[in-house]
Amino acid sequence: MVIIMASMYGSKLKISIFGQSHSPAIGVTIDGLPAGLPIDMEALHQFLARRAPGQNALSTSRREADVPEFLSGLYEGVTCGAPLTAIIRNTNTRSGDYANLADCPRPGHADYPACVKWNGHQDPTGGGHFSGRLTAPLCIAGGIALQLLSQRGITVGAHVAQIEAVHDTPFDSVHITGEALQKIRDKAFPVVDDSVAPSMEAAILTAKRSADSVGGIVECAAVGVPAGVGDPMFDGLESRLAAMLFAVPAVKGVEFGAGFDCASMRGSTCNDPYVIRGGAVRTASNNNGGILGGIANGMPILVRAAFKPTSSIGIEQDSVSLSRMEPQKLIVHGRHDPCIVLRAVPVVEAAVALALLDAIL
Ligand SMILES: Cc1cc2nc3c(=O)[nH]c(=O)nc-3n(C[C@H](O)[C@H](O)[C@H](O)COP(=O)(O)O)c2cc1C
Repeated sequence: MVIIMASMYGSKLKISIFGQSHSPAIGVTIDGLPAGLPIDMEALHQFLARRAPGQNALSTSRREADVPEFLSGLYEGVTCGAPLTAIIRNTNTRSGDYANLADCPRPGHADYPACVKWNGHQDPTGGGHFSGRLTAPLCIAGGIALQLLSQRGITVGAHVAQIEAVHDTPFDSVHITGEALQKIRDKAFPVVDDSVAPSMEAAILTAKRSADSVGGIVECAAVGVPAGVGDPMFDGLESRLAAMLFAVPAVKGVEFGAGFDCASMRGSTCNDPYVIRGGAVRTASNNNGGILGGIANGMPILVRAAFKPTSSIGIEQDSVSLSRMEPQKLIVHGRHDPCIVLRAVPVVEAAVALALLDAIL
């Protein structure tokens, strides 16, 4: 049974994520990794670099290298069976930018509910434990999970499917291959159709110029997951993946295969007919996103996560003073992503890899 407790997740592979945006460090403990796995540090660093901030005008100007330090769990670069703990030190913090947020919560961010839940003891700086920065340790765990999955012939890859009103070509839900996913992963702007990237960039920069933000959708595929992986009901692959993806800050929607579009289809179009392809049972379409009854059917697993526009915007907004219990105008300072979606692509890959690996182990 997958255990979900606040900042912990997993059944066989348990991960616990700790830290705040401006605490000395953030990190992850992973319990249950098979012993004897050599970690490809170069590949892990490259994976983390895709999420790291400050790479271009499309993300926050907060620059951090996001280099993990391994405190335990490795012996001579190989997993040794003991819980693995890795941290990333927070080196580029400007807590003054957040001084007013303990009393005047940002609309759309977690400031107000966190204040109520923790009686005003929450760390408001940089979004505290609710910061998108906490997806860096998720990516450490996910980057390791991707390496383990790859040894089992499974490739996970994602692309920017939508920014505001600009759409990329969706993955080929039936024929997508591991090699195609890898090719997209290597792109600076990970889209299937490169011709849409400039319009997506323009949408982000236009919002940024007016101190506003935009959202979008990340589509992720996992190829090579054998039929039979998963469980019914609460431990179903959809349940596990959704729990993991909704833990990614700013995710407000998750759908599998044709997702919400299934609602307007007839059974005769939504059903994925069975065929024999390459000596194996496959389906001719993949509206169910590779999962039936919570269990993989051997087709590519397809999931889409919708990200809302970044809540911290430079435009004056209506908020309240919690101490005076009266209206107060708020202008958010600090360095924020005008769009989260681009940096979230490896985060979605990490989340999917972790949920799948936990189900497979
Ligand atoms: C990679 C990443 C970066 C983020 N950067 C910011 C940011 O710069 N400013 C901000 O307000 N929210 C940012 N967020 C989103 C907030 O952390 C999130 O909206 C907030 O914690 C409230 O959670 P919810 O939107 O899931 O309800 C980021 C999220 C991710 C995944």
